[in-house]
Amino acid sequence: MKIMLTGASGLLGAEIAGRLKTCAKELSIDNIILHRQSDSPGFLSADMKTQEGLDLIADQDWDVIIHTAAEKDPDACEKDKYNADILNVTATKFLAEKAVERGAYFIYISTDYVFPGTNPPYDEDAEPAPINYYGSTKLRGEVKVLDASPSFCSLRVPILYGTAAGVEHSALLAGSVRMLLDSKEKMVDDTIVRYPTYTGDVADAVVLLLKKRGSGIYHCSGKDKSTKYQVCVDIAHVLGLSHAHIFPQENPPSSGARRPYDCHLNMKRLNELGFDPVMPLHDRLMSFRKELSKYLNTL
Ligand SMILES: NC(=O)c1ccc[n+]([C@@H]2O[C@H](COP(=O)([O-])OP(=O)(O)OC[C@H]3O[C@@H](n4cnc5c(N)ncnc54)[C@H](OP(=O)(O)O)[C@@H]3O)[C@@H](O)[C@H]2O)c1
Repeated sequence: MKIMLTGASGLLGAEIAGRLKTCAKELSIDNIILHRQSDSPGFLSADMKTQEGLDLIADQDWDVIIHTAAEKDPDACEKDKYNADILNVTATKFLAEKAVERGAYFIYISTDYVFPGTNPPYDEDAEPAPINYYGSTKLRGEVKVLDASPSFCSLRVPILYGTAAGVEHSALLAGSVRMLLDSKEKMVDDTIVRYPTYTGDVADAVVLLLKKRGSGIYHCSGKDKSTKYQVCVDIAHVLGLSHAHIFPQENPPSSGARRPYDCHLNMKRLNELGFDPVMPLHDRLMSFRKELSKYLNTL
């Protein structure tokens, strides 16, 4: 297998890159091309918003593509719809067509934000109806991939956290640590329900899909229900820090892109393949104590 991993420097991409290297023998991987936008040793640098960048990726030798690169910030997508479309939809469509031409397998990373969040939990075949532009671009990207070939696959995930790319790349972890360290009083959202999902579990799901050649839509989600405020308090406990200056905000945020209320994803199809990660969120955060402390000391 020769794999093209787009977005390999990102929060999720770095985790998948590490896992593919560990599983290279088991999966008969001959080569992994690590792609990112910026120039960096060990990476194929290509800007997917340009035809030149897309052609560079298409010209490499690969028979599997794992497409994680995207604009993932809902506020940025809302502000610059054109750029969000070019990266999340147009580039995805191009890569899916190239994958069809060469008979390659495609894994697309999608989001729980394809759902409106009003009627959870959502099965893989539930009707998507995004309420913000980011969700709309990711859904359209997913449709392009699945329309290109019925053997391609889309893996939807909720808010991610992990340390493979460095704690600073994980907004949930780094943002919480920064808020705890800053003694200024702060209101933190306690209304929007989230299911923080460990990037290592998603990387395991990707490996399973590679092995089984999963097709269609899959969901991968953490099981523990939380909010931004609750995660912050949990991280305070893990690090032994005070959270006396952090207060739960009881009204949904009024600025930026609209966030769906609760997009809990059922992961029936991955469960059927025997996939069922069990570590609770708090235990996982405890396992990151060393990395979180190290990050804290850099601030
Ligand atoms: N993070 C979450 O909580 C979350 C939740 C649900 C779904 N997802 C989905 O999961 C996937 C991975 O997200 P992530 O959090 O790992 O993203 P990330 O940390 O923001 O990483 C983005 C990656 O895409 C690359 N990239 C950005 N702009 C590019 C461009 N114009 N051309 C080529 N490459 C570009 C970046 O390269 P550089 O590093 O060189 O800039 C980086 O490797 C995305 O598809 C996202 O929609 C993420």
